Amino acid sequence: MTFKRHTVTAALPYANGPVHIGHLAGCYLPADIYVRYLRSKGEDVKFICGSDEHGVPITIKAKKEGITPQQVVDKYHKMMGDSFKEFGVSFDIYSRTSSKTHHETASAFFKTLYDKKVFVEEITEQYFDEKANQFLADRYIVGTCPKCANENAYGDQCEKCGSTLNATDLINPKSTLSGDKPVLKKTKNWFLPLDKMQAQIEAYIDSHKEWKSNVSGQCKSWLNAGLQPRAMTRDLDWGVKVPVDGADGKVLYVWFDAPIGYISATKDLTPDWEKYWKDKETKLVHFIGKDNIVFHCIIFPAMLMAEGSFILPENVPANEFLNLEGDKISTSRNWAVWLHEYLLEFKDKQDVLRYTLCANAPESKDNDFTWKDFQAKNNNELVAILGNFVNRTLVLTHKYYEGKVPVAAEYNKTDLLLLEEITKFPAKIAASIEQYRFREALGELMNLARLGNKYLADNEPWTLIKTDEKRVQTIMNLSLQISANLAVLMEPFLPFTSKKLSAMLNLNTGLKWNDATRTDLLLAGHQINTAALLFDKVEDETITAQVQRLEDSKKMNEEDKSTEISQNSKEIKTEVTFEDFSKMDIRIGTILEAEKVPKADKLLKLLIDTGIDKRTVVSGIAGYYKPEDIIGQQVSILVNLAPRKIKGIESQGMILMAENNKGELSFVSPTKDSMNNGGVVK
Ligand code: 2FM
Ligand code: ZN
Repeated sequence: MTFKRHTVTAALPYANGPVHIGHLAGCYLPADIYVRYLRSKGEDVKFICGSDEHGVPITIKAKKEGITPQQVVDKYHKMMGDSFKEFGVSFDIYSRTSSKTHHETASAFFKTLYDKKVFVEEITEQYFDEKANQFLADRYIVGTCPKCANENAYGDQCEKCGSTLNATDLINPKSTLSGDKPVLKKTKNWFLPLDKMQAQIEAYIDSHKEWKSNVSGQCKSWLNAGLQPRAMTRDLDWGVKVPVDGADGKVLYVWFDAPIGYISATKDLTPDWEKYWKDKETKLVHFIGKDNIVFHCIIFPAMLMAEGSFILPENVPANEFLNLEGDKISTSRNWAVWLHEYLLEFKDKQDVLRYTLCANAPESKDNDFTWKDFQAKNNNELVAILGNFVNRTLVLTHKYYEGKVPVAAEYNKTDLLLLEEITKFPAKIAASIEQYRFREALGELMNLARLGNKYLADNEPWTLIKTDEKRVQTIMNLSLQISANLAVLMEPFLPFTSKKLSAMLNLNTGLKWNDATRTDLLLAGHQINTAALLFDKVEDETITAQVQRLEDSKKMNEEDKSTEISQNSKEIKTEVTFEDFSKMDIRIGTILEAEKVPKADKLLKLLIDTGIDKRTVVSGIAGYYKPEDIIGQQVSILVNLAPRKIKGIESQGMILMAENNKGELSFVSPTKDSMNNGGVVK
């Protein structure tokens, strides 16, 4: 079936942290490549995204940072939007679910289903924290997993064995708010009866045999287990209010409101939004990561079916996960490459990351990003193949013809074969993109550069120029044509480089995908501009520094963990002798200066008067104290601890802190004001 237009969405990321390479590789980069390709084909396409600003991930972050959920989403919405822009992710709109349009749209959608009597009202027992006086969302409950005995499973999922859980399945449940055992309390919620819709959903999924196997596999396993009614409302105070009577203190389930965010963002983009959501000739495609499959392939389609006036997703090309240096990417462990940090080190090298992530995309299984591979991809592919070919072509054109495209005098058999090959690339790359095989598509693009490189190497125009000037004209003309075609075809993958190359070739800016089937984009006599390198080498030291940064954060995490475990443990540590203890020189000191350590949420850099000297200590207390509040604070400091570097700062000692059972820290300090700096703690 051919479609008149396209609505392409990329998962609305939770506005609770910056964007990392896993996000980019999982969904935003493939979506961007797809959309840029469609635009280049001249298709009518809208590319939709925005921040997902509701749900428990936001409230958890707010608690952790000691700010309001609104402050959390304001901070990260801006930061994420900026990162996407900087990496060339070309959304037509980057909206947010806290917007007025979204609240109205989600609310009206719910009301329509409510009025159509789609929902089943049910009173169920949910966990309630009596101390915090609130119902507990699944993520606020931890306990022992009934399947694998992991003691830190969440109310909705065990991250150790991957099981999906109900909070009531947990053994020894505990509220993460108060640490208390929650009690079950009755509450009314509105359920989407997915059980009754099973046949309809099955038929829908069956009608899409072309979906990726990782996607249909997950759908099948949900369907085989039998769909269950799912609550579309929650007892929470952060989100879209449930727009019916008797629903005070309840909001829409975040997975009800978030996908409607795609619709409200389109409304914010164009008054013509209905064409993009209700016309059968529109192809709706959702790019997501694998943890979102069930919501986009089962729950959202079920909502759309129940509403009745919308088209259904035509495809949901979900990717698997990207790991980093062999380990799962983790925000809390700072095991990630953050996009904004990447740019500090690799200024103007957005395309190198886009290239590496696409070449290594986790399309059918989890994949690994390593800095070594990043360096290899840059040096051995972008520099050595693509950059080298283009550079040789442009430099020789300037050298032999003062930058004017030479006339192709006469084609020999090799040239004719080459011409034929060149014209096949747009269709080959397109076929892969249209099947969401972006790695393969990028491989084909590089094959065109390889073809060019080989052509130059085989024909050696730099040698021939002494004996056969005519032949060199043809060789250079063809090499220039390949460069021009590369500029057009690389645009979806490497938009910054495409722009740079097009400018160097002085290429007509309005060129479209199918123009790359031609071999005369540059006419004889056309003047090209100065040549500059498209890519440069990434040196070993740069890579070592990145790996070291990751190692440092791993070390810090292990240290954090071991302090945590030792402090929370009921077990007494191994006995030490008095001599051992007396080796520790602990003194009373006073904090003279305090400031946040850049790019480290938890750390403060302190200047402490120890009575002996003034020294710098880096301490993980930023989550508990504001710098300005602790100037003048007396503390106990271990002064003979071996210095160590933390985030590049030498820390010369350690402040003693007491931890309560919620993990909150406070200073261990003398209660008498008369204690002098330098006083010994014993
Ligand atoms: O997993 C996530 O980050 C979700 N915020 C994705 C939501 S996608 C859509 F439904 F909006
Ligand atoms: Zn488990």
